[in-house]
Amino acid sequence: MDSIGGVINEFSPSVTAVSSAVEKVDADALVLGVAKGPEGPVLLPNPLADKAAKGVADSLSALGASGAADQLLRLPGVDGFKSETLVLIGTGELTGEPDGGVSAEALRRAAGSAVRQLGSASSVALALPAATVEQVSAVAEGAAMGAYSFPHFKSSEEAKKKTPVAEISVLTPLKDKHTKAALQRATTVAGAVRAVRDLVNTPPSHLYPESFADIVKEQAKGTKLKVKVWDEAQLAKEGFGGLLGVGGGSSRKPRLVRIEHSPSKPVAHISLVGKGITFDSGGLSLKPANAMTTMKLDMAGAATVAGVLRAVAELDLPVKVTGWLCLAENMPSDTAQRPEDVITIYGGKTVEVLNTDAEGRLVLADGIVAAGEEQPDAIIDVATLTGAQMIALGLRTVGVMGNEDLREDLVEASQDAGESHWGMPIPEEARSGFDSEVADLTNLGAREGGMLNAAAFLREFVPEREGADPKALDPEAKRIPWAHIDIAGPAFNEKGAYGYTPKGGTGVTVRTLVTYLEGLTQQRGR
Ligand code: BES
Ligand code: MN
Ligand code: ZN
Repeated sequence: MDSIGGVINEFSPSVTAVSSAVEKVDADALVLGVAKGPEGPVLLPNPLADKAAKGVADSLSALGASGAADQLLRLPGVDGFKSETLVLIGTGELTGEPDGGVSAEALRRAAGSAVRQLGSASSVALALPAATVEQVSAVAEGAAMGAYSFPHFKSSEEAKKKTPVAEISVLTPLKDKHTKAALQRATTVAGAVRAVRDLVNTPPSHLYPESFADIVKEQAKGTKLKVKVWDEAQLAKEGFGGLLGVGGGSSRKPRLVRIEHSPSKPVAHISLVGKGITFDSGGLSLKPANAMTTMKLDMAGAATVAGVLRAVAELDLPVKVTGWLCLAENMPSDTAQRPEDVITIYGGKTVEVLNTDAEGRLVLADGIVAAGEEQPDAIIDVATLTGAQMIALGLRTVGVMGNEDLREDLVEASQDAGESHWGMPIPEEARSGFDSEVADLTNLGAREGGMLNAAAFLREFVPEREGADPKALDPEAKRIPWAHIDIAGPAFNEKGAYGYTPKGGTGVTVRTLVTYLEGLTQQRGR
């Protein structure tokens, strides 16, 4: 079993497809779906016999079932059924999709919500619409993402032993090999999502650059992933000025981690670069106290990259994927970088650091240049980069910037995955905001459009594409295709849990990236 620094033992539920008669299913709870119809609650398609189903359907209004998302009602078990409790979970409004009238994402959330809220049950059977492979996959994925808790830092044995729902059955008439494969994929993807949440939730007392790198190495054991770690001496030797500058104020020194998934005949090579600030105090440009809590989340981009690599290896995708984790702790001290310092990013560009709290872009710049040296087909960076992301898009929608084609492919992948990602522009005036009197550029652009400006800064570090036409007029044609994903708000849920999303780390963007990488496989005919 994987562990995090000897503290966290990873939990994973079993997820199985069950096609036996619903009466014989022996689970603590049997879950049915209820949607909100135009004229009141609607019981969704389920394997119950007509009479039993009619009995439940007729009493929905009397029970107070509205079909609203996340509404959960427990009913006594029905005579002749082995399951102890019958549970109704709301799926939200009917939206007219075939085979049940609700979307795959509505099913994913309902399954996740039920499993999450039934945390004290040890086995749950889901009798939600499951007539297609897509539906089975959504129910399984949602349920496996809902089965999550983070009790590792509680002291009582009782709290530590309490696991989420450990046995999940998805009731479906399907039993072909596609259904089995979909279940396997759902389990893998949800496992990666939970692993990202564990890393994000781990307190900065326990997760710092060195321990993060150790965890990645440990978790790669027994897989085909190759891991290389640069320590501070190697970073200094090779000139990683961004990581060293940002990490300079902390006694816990920075690390760069490269994770490689290298299948024998890859259809493409994609590099993923993650921001891994294990704690962002702001540095000497210190954050106020209330802005500093939650700043353990600032390594979520790096955790996402590590999670995607783990999923890609487990799924054995025929795409070469290289992950770069830029790990540092941003702290104030007499060895911290100062506002007005000039640092040299890996590869030679210089940056005047005007605000030490704009640190993510500095470590990412090192990572993007290093990733680009290998001339991959595309570079995608993932980061909790700006507070401005939340002002622009709110707490649940991720911003995607960069090359138009890549950006659109990522947004499309997110729609297929059931995540909310939105394409945003990099305005032409953004770059000049970083003009510096003394260095190549500063790290502080205009306040307005902060998320977009940060992307313009990062773009300066995307290397040229070898073999590109030197006379090409379009600068995009000369650079390696690149996209920047800002997950600042969506990476961490400070509000109440909903659907399959718990409080704390969410694991957002893992599904989008896995779906994008799977899509490359299909596009290129594999
Ligand atoms: N890690 C923060 C961004 C952030 C803020 C993520 C809130 C999640 C929640 C980042 O390093 C930061 O401090 N950004 C500054 C940039 C500014 C100084 C240009 C910001 O957004 O205020
Ligand atoms: Mn910061
Ligand atoms: Zn930060």
